[in-house]
Amino acid sequence: MMLVLGIETSCDECSASLVDENARVITNIVSSQVKLHEKYGGIVPEIAARAHVETVIPVISSALCDGYMPDLVSVTAGPGLVGSLLVGVSAAKALAWGFGIPLVAVNHVEAHAISPVCEGNLPDFPYLALVISGGHTELLFFHSVDEIEIIGQTVDDAAGEAYDKVAKFLGLGYPGGPIIDKLSEQGDSAAIDFPRAMMSSLDYNFSFSGLKTAVIRYVERSKMEGDMPRVEDIVSSFQAAALEVVVSKTVRAALKTGVRAVVAGGGVACNRTLRRMLLSQCERNGIEMIVSSPQYCTDNGAMVAALGLMRYEKGYRSGLDLDVYPSLRVGKKIE
Ligand code: KG4
Ligand code: ZN
Repeated sequence: MMLVLGIETSCDECSASLVDENARVITNIVSSQVKLHEKYGGIVPEIAARAHVETVIPVISSALCDGYMPDLVSVTAGPGLVGSLLVGVSAAKALAWGFGIPLVAVNHVEAHAISPVCEGNLPDFPYLALVISGGHTELLFFHSVDEIEIIGQTVDDAAGEAYDKVAKFLGLGYPGGPIIDKLSEQGDSAAIDFPRAMMSSLDYNFSFSGLKTAVIRYVERSKMEGDMPRVEDIVSSFQAAALEVVVSKTVRAALKTGVRAVVAGGGVACNRTLRRMLLSQCERNGIEMIVSSPQYCTDNGAMVAALGLMRYEKGYRSGLDLDVYPSLRVGKKIE
């Protein structure tokens, strides 16, 4: 049996996971830093990096159950926060050197896009992937595991960032995505007609910054007029405006590229409304829709191990002089 250790520290989750030669998960340890960043309403890069320094070895040691010996180590080398990335990459290099095993660096966004493989659900190539998280909103065309094209992306904020900022403005807590997801279920999504940004543009790009501002303006005006709508209605209407564009463009891109399957990954892919909308719209258009369980949508080492394994099988290897790439683009070779 081949064992692959995946290490993920690009943002605020410190995760290490062990997968087998079929990318099936043996252990998946995730140490969340939500409690540390909560009071700031967002991630503080230096706090994140320092927390990774403390947790990276205990997390890896739990993933290895204090005994398993990996045959390969894979790590996220970008994109992400420079200090956070450095901790995971340094740990991965030390392990590769100490165990005398190969090292494969991967791109975090690409890892989200293959995450269903951890549950044995990856469709055949080519497929379309929607990666939607706190840092990214991208539509990717996967010709193969190492030939990836960006079809569309956000021109400003990521979708999850808009969720987090709207929740912060409304004083709902951090991270905003799961809170808005839950509150929206009790709201009327048609209560307020927020703008569907770039809905009719012919490209596959997104914009969420204007929507966030529209929500803030609407709430400020309502307060001034003494006519504040229910917070459930505000967040539900915000979510509808954001997700309708995402789903519509994803399905359009799938039809245009002629793929048979769409994969969704990233933290926002946990969203119940998004999952329902994507499933029904894809089904209506004869497209298979695959989305990971929530634990493999948010940041995790299993998707990193899985992508590392797939790349290793194609001959990829990284040197012990591996650097980190905070702005790494999808499809770009990691030196
Ligand atoms: O993939 P992820 O863990 O980290 C990044 O790579 O960004 O995604 C985190 C993002 C946060 O913005 C969070 O608010 C959002 O995913 N998120 C959600 C949900 N769960 C997490 N957004 C909407 N609905 C959810 N249920
Ligand atoms: Zn992520």
